Amino acid sequence: MPKTTIHTLREKMKKGERMTYLTAYDYPFALLEQKAGIDVILVGDSIGMVVYGYDSTLPVTVDLMMPHVKAVRMAAPDVYLVGDMPYMSYQPSVRDAIINGGRFMAEAGCDCVKLEGGREMAATIRAMVDATIPVMAHIGLTPQSAAQLGGYKAQGRDIETAKKLVEDAKILEEAGACSILLEAVPSEVAEIITRRSSVPTFGIGAGPHCHGQVLVIHDMIGMFDRKVAKFVKKYAEVGAKIVEALEEFKREVLAGKFPAPEHCYPMPDDVAAELNRLFPD
Ligand code: KIV
Repeated sequence: MPKTTIHTLREKMKKGERMTYLTAYDYPFALLEQKAGIDVILVGDSIGMVVYGYDSTLPVTVDLMMPHVKAVRMAAPDVYLVGDMPYMSYQPSVRDAIINGGRFMAEAGCDCVKLEGGREMAATIRAMVDATIPVMAHIGLTPQSAAQLGGYKAQGRDIETAKKLVEDAKILEEAGACSILLEAVPSEVAEIITRRSSVPTFGIGAGPHCHGQVLVIHDMIGMFDRKVAKFVKKYAEVGAKIVEALEEFKREVLAGKFPAPEHCYPMPDDVAAELNRLFPD
């Protein structure tokens, strides 16, 4: 498979070919996603919640992310790989943003980094792009600001905030963002942003009009039996399948059915006989 680059994504956008974008945090999932032909993989800061069990993304750090991003790149050399900049890895200063963004590019082999925020991030994005770090902008519901937003709620549902989102998308594109991720916004808002955008838009809970669709892998394969956001479609119940397999393993071990002869290493009869002679009883 040829390597997916920003040009591949732009070509698909121009041809009206919809794109697929999923999170991955480790080697096996990235291997499967590349095999399935997913265009873009995000090593998201959602890792904090779906892999490490925190109740928000805030405790995630660049050091925590780095080995995961490297493993994903190793498994999926051909996909367009996005590294998610954790909370406080870019907000304190442009210098922090460039140094940490540079780590995702140089140490982990990302094709771009993603950061959350609207027009207030324009200068940071401009400086990062000038420093050769491609940036995907993330607007709408930005989980790193959940405390300020009053929780994980859909955004842009009144005229003021909808208008601001449309303006923010343009400002960030003009600041040099190579693509825009829209989270939890009405389809109408995403449609206007997408129509006005000259860079690819990716939506998670943003309706059908974006150039591509994003989901968190653990949510879409049904890894957990807890409630998922309204915008998630569960394409499988993998968690339940895993528990079924584990329960069967336990039943068979307790019943002495596993391991069966086909799972054991054979030994020549004469060696077995000699061993029994040496260690009787
Ligand atoms: O961290 C994450 O998983 C995200 C989602 C919007 C895909 O940013």
